[in-house]
Amino acid sequence: MSAPTRASGAAKARAPKAAPAAKTKTGQPKRERVFSGIQPTNTPHIGNYLGAIRHWVAEQDLYDNIFCVVDLHAITLPQDPNELRVAVRRLAALLLACGIDPNRSALFVQSHLHEHAELAWILNCMTPTGWLNRMTQFKVKAGDAQESASAGLYTYPVLMAADILLYQTDVVPVGEDQRQHVELARDIVNSFNARFGETFVEPRARIREVGARIMSLDDPEKKMSKSGAEASYIALLDRPEVIRKKIARATTDSQRTIVFDENRPGIFNLLTIYQLLSGQTRAAIEAEFEGKGYKEFKAALADLLAATLEPIQRRYDAITSDPGELDRILAHGAERVRPMAEQTLRAVKERVGLL
Ligand code: AMP
Ligand code: TRP
Repeated sequence: MSAPTRASGAAKARAPKAAPAAKTKTGQPKRERVFSGIQPTNTPHIGNYLGAIRHWVAEQDLYDNIFCVVDLHAITLPQDPNELRVAVRRLAALLLACGIDPNRSALFVQSHLHEHAELAWILNCMTPTGWLNRMTQFKVKAGDAQESASAGLYTYPVLMAADILLYQTDVVPVGEDQRQHVELARDIVNSFNARFGETFVEPRARIREVGARIMSLDDPEKKMSKSGAEASYIALLDRPEVIRKKIARATTDSQRTIVFDENRPGIFNLLTIYQLLSGQTRAAIEAEFEGKGYKEFKAALADLLAATLEPIQRRYDAITSDPGELDRILAHGAERVRPMAEQTLRAVKERVGLL
């Protein structure tokens, strides 16, 4: 669908593809490229899983996929060096355990390809600060300490744009919180292409309605986040006892009925998680718990979470028992995408006058 709209520069930059050429020869449309990234800070939680990872896994056959552990984004906030090293590998292993298949999708670590930082710098020089001043995530993350927040945190969305644009990405599957950043990437594409000639493909965000924003367990007015308190999220590596405790303590309200009511954010969030994990309709879930109490519902939800995470944790244990294999997978992922990144960066440098 997007192929005809691709201008020559973009098509050129996109040439080295892993997908078999036979597809286009038979006249079938090329698969669209998906790129998404996830930060290796702290431990991934079910918000990441339901809002992002699960969809990446489910749609691997529909797209030409690239998934990236974005360690350069992680250092926009202070990180302990040893913990960061561990967290990158833990996240990569978890993505594989969740079902990212390295034969169908390229999985790699952002800092392993210098092109990300290099393109980000060039784009930084093309991006008005006024655009960055509108980014709400910076304001949330920097809080009251804007003066001491790093310049990297401020230009974080430009690095994200570089990630996306290096691979001539069509589709960026993310949670609702990233919508504004993908919009910025689109603005950068349009201004760059207008000034220097068609160079980048304009990406579009793909955001699900349900599950795009899983809320915190202890404060359902806030989104579930890795930086929140332990009790606020279910980590993908949480064991069943921990899951039961956290769900039992999750904030609800003083009403009794178990119904999807957006005005009751606590129970609504728990029901949404139940809906996404069970695949049942809202009506079926409400019927199942009619006349039952929060305690019973929470026990059922905890069981469902534990049953979902158990096979993921089993695969994670197997993957981490062979660190050499994980290294090989990540090196292979980087080698697969490197030619595309090199080609785009070369085209950009030519356009800008650096080559
Ligand atoms: P991050 O952990 O911020 O790197 O996010 C990785 C992916 O998970 C992004 O696509 C986010 O939009 C998504 N995500 C993060 N937190 C949530 C949440 N609470 N609900 C749904 N999706 C989320
Ligand atoms: N900023 C994203 C987040 O915090 C992670 C990310 C970095 C990303 N680069 C990306 C997501 C490129 C999609 C595409 O969730």
